[in-house]
Amino acid sequence: MNNKFQHLLALLCLLLTAPAMASQVEVLHWWTSGGELDALSELKEKVEETDNTWLDFAIEGGGGNTALTVLRSRAVSGNPPTAALIKGHNIQEWAKLGFLTSLDDIATREKWDDKLPEFIKPIMKYQGHYVAVPVNIHRINWLWLNETIFNKAKIAVPTDLSELIAVLPQLEAAGYLPIAHTSEPWADAILFESISLSVLGAEQYKQAFVDLNPQILASPAMINAFAQLRAMSLYIDKNAKNRTWEQSTKLLIDDQAAIQIMGDWVAGKLLQEKQQLNTKIRCIEFPGSEGIFSYNVDSFAFFKLKSVSSEVKEAQKTLASIILTPELQREFNAKKGSLPIINTVNSNNFNPCTQQAYTDYQQAMRDNTLVPTFAQAMATTTYVQSAIARVISNFIYDKSISNEAAVVQLTNAIKAAQ
Ligand code: GAL
Repeated sequence: MNNKFQHLLALLCLLLTAPAMASQVEVLHWWTSGGELDALSELKEKVEETDNTWLDFAIEGGGGNTALTVLRSRAVSGNPPTAALIKGHNIQEWAKLGFLTSLDDIATREKWDDKLPEFIKPIMKYQGHYVAVPVNIHRINWLWLNETIFNKAKIAVPTDLSELIAVLPQLEAAGYLPIAHTSEPWADAILFESISLSVLGAEQYKQAFVDLNPQILASPAMINAFAQLRAMSLYIDKNAKNRTWEQSTKLLIDDQAAIQIMGDWVAGKLLQEKQQLNTKIRCIEFPGSEGIFSYNVDSFAFFKLKSVSSEVKEAQKTLASIILTPELQREFNAKKGSLPIINTVNSNNFNPCTQQAYTDYQQAMRDNTLVPTFAQAMATTTYVQSAIARVISNFIYDKSISNEAAVVQLTNAIKAAQ
C-alpha cells in the first residue's frame, strides 16, 4: 500500500466512525441590551453544550422593528435563519406565508400541550400545528420609579393616574427629568397602552384593542385616554428621540430621571446593573391599572430551511427543545426579568418585581384581567398594531392634534389596516 492510499483509507475510517456531526443554529433577535444579552447567553450556552454552534443574528432596536425588516429580506431571498424572535399575531402571519416549519414531533414527544398555559397554545400554533416555542411572559403595565428622587424632592409616590400627572411638574421644578421616555413608536404605544388600561379598564381595553369595536374606539373614555396622554406628553423631553429604553433605565439608576413607563425587561437591565430591585428603583403597577396584567410573550418561530441535511434539522429541533426545559426557563427568566412560561419552575430566587408579577399574573387569570398587549402585537395583527402606534406617535409629537381628532384618526387607521 502506498502512503497516499493509506492516508485515504485512514480518512475514510475516520468518517465512518465519527459521531453524527453537530450543526449550527442561527438565531435572529433584537436582544442587545445588558439584561437581554445575559438572558440570551443562557440559551446560547445550553445550545453549545449539545455541540451545536450558535450563530448570533442580532439586530439592534428595542421592540424589534428593524430586526423584523431584516428578517423579511433574508426570508424572501430564500435564506432564513434557523429561528427568529417572532411574537403574537406575527407568528400567524409568517406561517400563513408558508415560511415556518412544523414542530409537532418534538411537541408531541415533549408534551408541550400539557406544559403550556391554555391561552398561549393558539398563539404558537398555526392550523393546529406548533410553529413557535414561547420562552417567557413579560408584563407591560409597569411604572419604574426612583424613590430616592421622590424622597429628596418630598413628593409622594402617586397612587392614581391624576396624581401621577400632577407630580410631573413638581419633579421638573425639583430639577429632575420627570419621564425617561424613548421616542419610538413601540415605546409611545406602551405609554398609551398603560394609560388606556388605567382609563378604560380591562373589559373596555379588550373591546377596543382586541375586538376593535368602533364604538369603544370612538367613545368618550377613549377621548379621555388621549387627554391623559396629552398631559403626560408635555413632559417628554427632546432628547427622548435619541434615547434607547436601556438608556432611559440608566437615567433612573443615575438619579437623573424619576420614572420610566416600560415592560419588565427593565428588571433585566436593573439586575445587570447590580441594582437591588424594588428598593431605590421601585416597580409599581401603572397607576389605575392595578390588578390588570398586560402580557407580552417572547417566542421563537422556526423556519423551513433550505438545507436538507439531517444535522441541520436535528439542531433546529434541539434548539426548540432546550427552550422549554426547566433549567433554561429558570436561568433565562431570572436574568430577563420575565416569568417562565412553564409553571414547574421555582420562582423563589426571582427578584421581588418578578415575584410580584407572578402573583399578579395568577390573580389576573382568576379575575379575567389578563389582557394581551397591543403595543407588542399580541392583541391584533402587526398591520393594525403599526397603524395604532402611528396615530399615537403623531398625537404625542404634534401638539396641535386634539383628543377628539386623535380618536377619529385611530378609528380610521384601524379600519384601513384590517
Ligand atoms: C420586546 C421584547 C422584549 C424586550 C423588548 C425591548 O419586543 O418582547 O423581550 O426585549 O422588546 O427590547
